Amino acid sequence: MKPINVGLLGIGTVGGGTFRVLKRNKEEITRRAGREIAIVTVADKDVEKARAIVGDGVRVTADAFEVVRDPEIDIVVELIGGYTVARELVMAAIENKKHVVTANKALLALHGNDIFAAAQRNGVMVAFEAAVAGGVPIIKSLREGLTANHIEWIAGIINGTSNFILSQMRDRGASFEDALKEAQARGYAEADPTFDIEGIDAAHKLTIMSAIAFGIPMQFSKCYTEGISKLTREDIRYAEEFGYRIKLLGITRRRPEGVELRVHPTLVPARQLIANVEGVMNAILVKGDVVGPTLYYGAGAGAEPTASAVVADLVDVTRLHTVDPNNRVPHLAFQPDAVQDIPI
Ligand code: NDP
Ligand code: HSE
Repeated sequence: MKPINVGLLGIGTVGGGTFRVLKRNKEEITRRAGREIAIVTVADKDVEKARAIVGDGVRVTADAFEVVRDPEIDIVVELIGGYTVARELVMAAIENKKHVVTANKALLALHGNDIFAAAQRNGVMVAFEAAVAGGVPIIKSLREGLTANHIEWIAGIINGTSNFILSQMRDRGASFEDALKEAQARGYAEADPTFDIEGIDAAHKLTIMSAIAFGIPMQFSKCYTEGISKLTREDIRYAEEFGYRIKLLGITRRRPEGVELRVHPTLVPARQLIANVEGVMNAILVKGDVVGPTLYYGAGAGAEPTASAVVADLVDVTRLHTVDPNNRVPHLAFQPDAVQDIPI
């Protein structure tokens, strides 16, 4: 069978990781997908950088719009970030009947309702495992593994950069500024790190998880959002003295009056599992009425953990696209037309 053709938009931290993983594990990935997944075009602002990464044999362009219009491309992987140009690109890809894989939580939290509706209309898939908790397969778990459950609440550490900063401040006595610089150097932070340290990135991810878990539209504006930027080493030390750790948690729960969404620093008793999640690791607890509490843990950011999720989506989309192209179920998190907005 001929390869499925992928156009990659953005070859930075995650795009570079995705390219490497597809190459390194090509044989296994091809077997699992049922056919070869071939990146045929890469778009990046920096064409020379892109060329140095991909070598010969892959087309490189600075014009991402060229890729989303290219009739040879089956799947567009959006890894440029942001929600203006990225929104235009993703919408154009969908209108051109291409499946989309993205790691862009900001885009989905703000424009996901329109994007999923467009995907539904055009019969294409939008897959986004990498958008929440990096390499941790939380989207598939919520959507598939826990599908028999009435989800009661979700709580967790869902921003690797903030957790890394808090760990560095506590364990190494690092300053906030130095710890943030280190997180940036390791490729964990957003292009604008304010999103990490002010809790915005965690709120984007919580918005996406709540939409899947509770069958509600993306409602980012309803999330109470407070980050870690005002915390000092003294705050962390005092918490320790009283037997607590400070963690940036995202919490969403179903309440009689609606769905609650909040992100803020939280005092967690030091003996609790979640208090001991360190560095870039994420941990998410989900309470379902049938299964009870479940826990998901792993690297929440970084090139290869995130690429692991991007490639998993590529395999999923390839299988669904290939197995029964005339009768496929759109690979959506929720049905935007069939849900009600539940305010709180
Ligand atoms: P990077 O900044 O490392 O990579 C983005 C790349 O896209 C850069 O090379 C950038 O070029 C290029 N680019 C930006 N705009 C355009 C454009 N209009 N046309 C062509 N190329 C463009 O970001 P990341 O790889 O870290 O993140 C990508 C996405 O993945 C984001 O949505 C992010 O939130 C998400 N994500 C990131 C994770 C991580 O650990 N880093 C984890 C999970 C999700 P230039 O540098 O010149 O601007
Ligand atoms: N900046 C994000 C984080 C990347 O630190 O968690 C992963 O989504």
